Amino acid sequence: MLQEAALDRAYRATPQGLYLITTSRDGKPNLQFAFRSLGVIQTPPYFVFGQQTGNYSYETVKLTGELVINTCSQAHIHAIRASQNLTGRDEEDKFAVLGITPLPAKLVKAPLVKDSYASVECRLVKELDVVKGLAILLLEGIACYYDPEHPPIFRLDGKNYPMMDPLPE
Ligand SMILES: Cc1cc2nc3c(=O)[nH]c(=O)nc-3n(C[C@H](O)[C@H](O)[C@H](O)COP(=O)(O)O)c2cc1C
Repeated sequence: MLQEAALDRAYRATPQGLYLITTSRDGKPNLQFAFRSLGVIQTPPYFVFGQQTGNYSYETVKLTGELVINTCSQAHIHAIRASQNLTGRDEEDKFAVLGITPLPAKLVKAPLVKDSYASVECRLVKELDVVKGLAILLLEGIACYYDPEHPPIFRLDGKNYPMMDPLPE
């Protein structure tokens, strides 16, 4: 039965995707996990992504104006825990440390991620400064790839779930 819950459940109780955001600076690719990411318009393909401003990846996006949004599949879950205290500021090759394979992109220097259902090369359109420590980035997708063999996962209440077969409408 539907019941009122504490307001701090609102964020985690609404399902989210899980993504790997890739960037590249001075020839060095980097990646970070993210669940604050969402497609908002189909044409042009616009996305929003909430990024912690302390992240090395955020500094890179500010410098280069580009990133790739890659959906996570079961092939990437093993890296969540290992990623938690890692930053591209200190690591020479986070892809190697986390066992994730980069693939070349077409229009941006940031790499695609192998075994993602979808990868979208993006350019930064605008940054919204709403909450201290978190930037809301508006991004335009400029190239898209998909691999149907690696369905995405979603997150609910801090856990990861595989996408199941579609329901009949
Ligand atoms: C499951 C998970 C979800 C995360 N979601 C976000 C997110 O939405 N936005 C964000 O900026 N950081 C998020 N983080 C934290 C970054 O991935 C983390 O700070 C990362 O180490 C930053 O790396 P960098 O300094 O190399 O950019 C998440 C981490 C995990 C494990």
